[in-house]
Amino acid sequence: MKKILGGLAVVGALALSLTGCTGTTGGDAADDGLITVGFAQTGSESGWRSANTESMKAAFSEENGFKLVFNAADNKQEAQIAAVRSFINQGVDAIVIAPITVDGWDDVLTEAKDAGIPVILEDRTVSASEDLYASWVGLDFQKEGHTAGEWAAENFGSEPTNLVVLEGTTGSSAALDRATGFADAIKGTSINVLDSQTGDFTRDGGKKVMEGFLQKYGSDIQLLFAHNDDMGLGALDAIKAAGLVPGQDIKIVTIDAVHDGMQALADGEFNYIVECNPILGEKVAAVVKAVLAGETVDKATIVPDGAFTQEDAVELLPTRPY
Ligand code: AHR
Repeated sequence: MKKILGGLAVVGALALSLTGCTGTTGGDAADDGLITVGFAQTGSESGWRSANTESMKAAFSEENGFKLVFNAADNKQEAQIAAVRSFINQGVDAIVIAPITVDGWDDVLTEAKDAGIPVILEDRTVSASEDLYASWVGLDFQKEGHTAGEWAAENFGSEPTNLVVLEGTTGSSAALDRATGFADAIKGTSINVLDSQTGDFTRDGGKKVMEGFLQKYGSDIQLLFAHNDDMGLGALDAIKAAGLVPGQDIKIVTIDAVHDGMQALADGEFNYIVECNPILGEKVAAVVKAVLAGETVDKATIVPDGAFTQEDAVELLPTRPY
């Protein structure tokens, strides 16, 4: 099952080899009955991302009827758009994108539509018109932020509490919506936002930004909201290096619930985690097959999330799959 766009396929294959794609390239191979899917992943910024990539690769396997052309864009929007353009040039059967940022997708999504290649979004959303993609499978980031904010409001909202925030990648739906949900939940409480900066969803980013917060505000910081576990884990190093005790001197709420985050929660270094489920592969693969079969699919599929205390983490850690 392949669309062949002549010489463009060569350009596409070349571009993919330059941007770190793995898997079988589409375009000029014999028809083998498999569905060729180009997957434009954000990068490998976090434990959540690794689990998501693993889930996608397992679901888009040859045993399940797919050939996966995988690209990780190192969190660079231009590289991700270039990868999608390569998939179009190769004439893949469908394209799956985990969009790094919400904006900037109109042109390339229009190009995919003009080429007759359906696009399915996974994980994050875009600001482009819904007509430009077939479906989205992801998480309710605003609700995740709201749940984190509710916990903060319930536990610290009745007396003055200084908060700092480690934001995710600037312009990503995950960061934008979590910020909106959290701000809404702490509105009208005594929580005072001292500062809020991006750590780009990485451990290193979280550590560096937290070091800056600690230099500026020192022990005035009482509460940290990190948009993901990895930034919170990076912040732990900065907090300990400043001679403070994470989970005690500075209370910490994060989002994701990957293994290392749950371990920090079980150890009492984090105080609360809102889940963001990365295991989306099977759902996305089912949507791709349905779209290609001409079936009507839901425009949005939202995967439910939980939230965990220290006791939950101790109980769940031994059986957590990621
Ligand atoms: O889009 C989901 C977010 O992206 C996860 O919370 C974060 O860890 C990842 O990098």
